[in-house]
Amino acid sequence: MFLTKLIYVLLFFSSFCTANRWYRMFYSNHHDPCVDRHNRYQRCIPDFINAAFHKSIYASSTCGNPVREFCSNKSACHLCDSSQINTSYPTDYLTDINNPNNLTCWQSDLIKPGENASLVLSLNKKFELTYISLQFCSDIKPDSMAIFKSMDRGLSWIPLQYYSNNCEEVFNKSSFGLITRSNEQEALCIDTKSQLSSSNSDSRIAFSTLEGRPSAYEFDTSPVLQDWVTATDIKIVLLSTNSDKNFYSIADFSVGGRCKCNGHASKCITNSDGHLVCDCKHNTAGDECERCKDFHFDRPWTRATPRDANECVACTCNNHSRQCRFNKELYLLSGRKSGGICIQCKHNTVGRYCNYCKETFYQDPNLPITHPEICKACNCHPVGSRGKVCNQTTGQCLCKDGVTGLRCDRCVKGYQQTKSPVAPCIKTYDTKLSTLYNIYHRPDDTDDYHEQDVNVENNPTAATTTTATTTVHQTLSEYHPPIDMGQYCGACRYYSHRLHIKKFCKRDYTIHARVTNRHDAGQWVSYLLTIIRVYKDRLNRIQDSEQWVWVSRKDVECSCPRLQLDRQYLLMGFYDQTQSSLSLDHTSVVIQWRPRMEQRMNRFRKLELNKKC
Ligand SMILES: *[C@@H]1O[C@H](CO)[C@@H](O)[C@H](O)[C@H]1NC(C)=O
Ligand SMILES: *[C@@H]1O[C@H](CO)[C@@H](O)[C@H](O)[C@H]1NC(C)=O
Ligand SMILES: *[C@@H]1O[C@H](CO)[C@@H](O)[C@H](O)[C@H]1NC(C)=O
Ligand SMILES: *[C@@H]1O[C@H](CO)[C@@H](O)[C@H](O)[C@H]1NC(C)=O
Ligand SMILES: *[C@@H]1O[C@H](CO)[C@@H](O)[C@H](O)[C@H]1NC(C)=O
Ligand SMILES: *[C@@H]1O[C@H](CO)[C@@H](O)[C@H](O)[C@H]1NC(C)=O
Ligand SMILES: *[C@@H]1O[C@H](CO)[C@@H](O)[C@H](O)[C@H]1NC(C)=O
Repeated sequence: MFLTKLIYVLLFFSSFCTANRWYRMFYSNHHDPCVDRHNRYQRCIPDFINAAFHKSIYASSTCGNPVREFCSNKSACHLCDSSQINTSYPTDYLTDINNPNNLTCWQSDLIKPGENASLVLSLNKKFELTYISLQFCSDIKPDSMAIFKSMDRGLSWIPLQYYSNNCEEVFNKSSFGLITRSNEQEALCIDTKSQLSSSNSDSRIAFSTLEGRPSAYEFDTSPVLQDWVTATDIKIVLLSTNSDKNFYSIADFSVGGRCKCNGHASKCITNSDGHLVCDCKHNTAGDECERCKDFHFDRPWTRATPRDANECVACTCNNHSRQCRFNKELYLLSGRKSGGICIQCKHNTVGRYCNYCKETFYQDPNLPITHPEICKACNCHPVGSRGKVCNQTTGQCLCKDGVTGLRCDRCVKGYQQTKSPVAPCIKTYDTKLSTLYNIYHRPDDTDDYHEQDVNVENNPTAATTTTATTTVHQTLSEYHPPIDMGQYCGACRYYSHRLHIKKFCKRDYTIHARVTNRHDAGQWVSYLLTIIRVYKDRLNRIQDSEQWVWVSRKDVECSCPRLQLDRQYLLMGFYDQTQSSLSLDHTSVVIQWRPRMEQRMNRFRKLELNKKC
C-alpha cells in the first residue's frame, strides 16, 4: 500500500524533471536549463535523486562488537561479528545498491525495552525531500518508530512522522490526527498494528512528505510546505517497547529529493571548500541560491516558479558604483519595479542611481552619464564667487557684482580689482582708482616676482622684460584682469625669496620640469611633470621621466605655488609624508625656468657634493 502511494508521489513530483530532461535532449546537450530557448531566464531545479545513496550513516548501535548470536525464531539464528566480512552488518549496507536478490543488511545491537536505536543521515546541505523509505531485513519490525529532520545540521530536530502500535502511550499523539491547511507542518502518528506487524509481508516503510497535505498541489506557492520538506539531516529512531530484548535489521535507507536551490540552479556542485552547494544562476548566490548576488538588489529575492524565474536584477548605477542595497519603500513606490539604491557612488557622483554630480561639481554635457569623468569640479573662485556651488549643467558659478567668468575669476570689462573680498571688482570711476589698480594688479601670464628675484641677482635685462610683458597685456582691449588670490591668502612665505644655497640644501629635491597635465580631484590638484633634469633627489625617489605631484586645492587657489600647463619650472621641495612621492605646497620654491638657472644649480650641486651645505 505504501509502495503504491510512493510510486504515485514519485511520478507526480518528478514529472517536471522528466519533461526537463526530454526538453534538454530535444534541443541541445549543452543548453543551460536555467535559460529558455529565447534566452530568457526560466525556473530550473536539480535532478531528483536518492540523496542517501552512498552516503555514510551514523548509527547509535551496530551489532558485532561484542560478537553475538541473533535468532529471529528458534530455528533461524545467525552470528554477528564485526571483525569478519561475512558476519558483519555495517551501516554502509543501508545506502549501497539495493539488490532485491542479495539484500545487504545493517543490524543494530540488542536494544533493551524502553531504549532505542537511531540512524542519522547527514546530507550536508539543504535538500527538499519527497520521501524517506526504509526496507527492513528480518521480519522483525520495530514496535514504534519516529522520523525526524533537522534544518540546521543536527542542532535541533523536528518530527516528520511517528509510527506506533500505541501512539497515545509511546508518543503522546492521537492516531486519528488530521492535517488541514492550519497545521501542515505537523507530524502524524500512524497506527502500525497493520503497518509494522511481523505478519505484514511488505517489509518497506515509506513516508511521503507531501502526502495528505492540502497545499501539496500548490507547492510552488506554499512557503509552509517548502519549509516542511526542507532538511539537512534525517534521523530515524527505532524504539523497543517490547518486554523482550530486541534488535533491528534494515536493508535499505533511501531518501528521494532534490538539492534545494529555490528554482535558481539545475545542479549542485562541490565548491572549493569541499562543500556541496547549488550552482546558482539568475544572479543569485548562497548555498541554496537563497539571496541575490552582490549588486543585484533592484528587487527582492524570490523563489522561482514554473511561470517566472524571479531572477535578481542588477542595480542601475551608471558605472559609478559596484555596490547597492534594496529599499522596500522605494520598491513599493515604483510599483514593484525598482528598489535598488546605489551606495558609495564614485567619480564625484551622487543620487540613487549615481546620476547626479556632487554639490560642487557639474555635469559635462559632452560626456555620457556613465563616463568616469562626467562630473567636473566647479572650482568657483573663493573670492569672486558667492559660493562653491555652480550650475549642475553649465558649470557656471554664482559671481559677485562686477565679476565674470565660468569660475568667477575675472573682473567684468570696465571693472577693476580691489583688495576687498566683499567687492573684489568695482567699476572704474576715475584715474585715482586706476592708479591703485595698477599697483595691485599682476597680469596672469607673467611672473613678475621671478623677474624681481632675478633682479636681486643683478641681471640688468630683467627689468625691461617685466615692463614689456605688462604692456602687451594692457594693449589687449578684451583682457579682463583675473582676480589675484594672493591678496587674500596671506604671504607665500618662500615664494618671493631669492634662490639661495640654503634652500637647495634644506629641500629633498630640486628639478627642472615641464608641467604637461593637470587633474582636479576634490581637495587635491595633481600636475603631471615631465622631468627635464634632476639636480637633487635625496632618496632617489624620481625614477620615471614623468611624475605626478599633488598640491592641495587651497594652495592652488592661493597661487602658492602657481603652476601652468606647458611651462617649465625650477621646483625645490620636500617629499610627501610617506616619502614616496614629491609634494608641492606653500613651502616649495616654484620659479619659472630661465636657462641661466642651469649654471647656478650646477654650482649648488657641486657645493652640496663637497659637503658645503
Ligand atoms: C523461522 O524463520 C525462517 C526464515 O526467516 C522461516 O523460514 C521459518 O519458517 C521460521 N520458523 C518459524 C517456526 O517461524
Ligand atoms: C565466514 O568466512 C570464513 C572464511 O572467510 C569462514 O571460515 C566462516 O565459516 C564463514 N562464516 C560463516 C558464518 O559463513
Ligand atoms: C551479495 O552482496 C555482497 C556485498 O555486496 C557481495 O559480497 C556478495 O558477493 C553478493 N552475493 C551475491 C550472490 O551476489
Ligand atoms: C532514544 O534514546 C535516547 C537516549 O537513550 C533518548 O534521549 C531519546 O529521547 C530517545 N528517543 C526517543 C524518540 O524516544
Ligand atoms: C501530551 O500532549 C498534550 C497536548 O498534545 C500535552 O498537553 C500533554 O502535556 C502531553 N503529555 C505528556 C506526558 O507529554
Ligand atoms: C561600464 O564599465 C565596464 C567596465 O568597467 C565597461 O565594460 C562597460 O562598457 C561600461 N558601460 C558603460 C555603459 O559605459
Ligand atoms: C543652469 O543653467 C541652465 C542653462 O543656462 C538654466 O536653464 C538652468 O535654469 C540653470 N539652473 C539653475 C539651477 O540655475
